Amino acid sequence: MPNVGHFHHVVMEVSNLDRSAEFLEQAVGLKLAGRDLWLEDGPSAAFQTAEGQYFVIVEVPNFTPRLGVHTNFMLPPEDYQVVYDGLKERGCLVMDHRAEQRSVGEVSTYFSDPDGQRLQITAFQPEAFQIPAAGRGKIVAGRIDDFPMGSVTHNKEGKFFLVRLQEGILALNDVCTHQQCTVAYQPEHYRFFCACHYNKFTRKGEHIGHIRGTPPLHAYAVEVVDGQVVVDTDASIPRTTEQAERMVYGLVEKA
Ligand code: FES
Repeated sequence: MPNVGHFHHVVMEVSNLDRSAEFLEQAVGLKLAGRDLWLEDGPSAAFQTAEGQYFVIVEVPNFTPRLGVHTNFMLPPEDYQVVYDGLKERGCLVMDHRAEQRSVGEVSTYFSDPDGQRLQITAFQPEAFQIPAAGRGKIVAGRIDDFPMGSVTHNKEGKFFLVRLQEGILALNDVCTHQQCTVAYQPEHYRFFCACHYNKFTRKGEHIGHIRGTPPLHAYAVEVVDGQVVVDTDASIPRTTEQAERMVYGLVEKA
């Protein structure tokens, strides 16, 4: 069954049902769930994706290929290469104009169905879910007075944000905990934003976006030495939501 929050099915029109059904089953590896389940729409075939949703193709007279929209099938990582190789062998691959925007561990490609309509396969390898530390050792971010109350300052070298709030100082890893893109700070919204899949995080790094299960941004250990803020970028510290809320890995400023 589809997960809560996911769509149930997508319908795509085709010119030749048998030809497209064979393609989806053999080349894309979708599981046929049944034929003509919605007879009033015309001859159709329903396929179940690896995520449990349904992809329905319907043969229509006067077929016109759809433009400007495509469907992406998420695959288990172990299946991706087999499907990719099969599509390549059939000569269906089309240029992936977003190849340079993929995150670490994300593999994806576009391809055409027998009617020339664009489809996509995507899989995430295990490394996509590991959040790397910047690994630049201890970095002196600046004097504590350089960071006014409420400020959020990006340190490019150390790939962290230094956040100064009433409760204290936090150093947050700038890598998104969804799939490793880099988050940006949006001062007008007092939040971090990830442009890859539109996740959002508070200034403490708590997740407030739409992708369920995304953990808070990681923290780095931070200390003040002789008035200088020092951040240890060698260990990226995962946090629970409750730890992020209480700024457990931050530096609490004494009154
Ligand atoms: S990498 Fe997906 S939302 Fe950031």
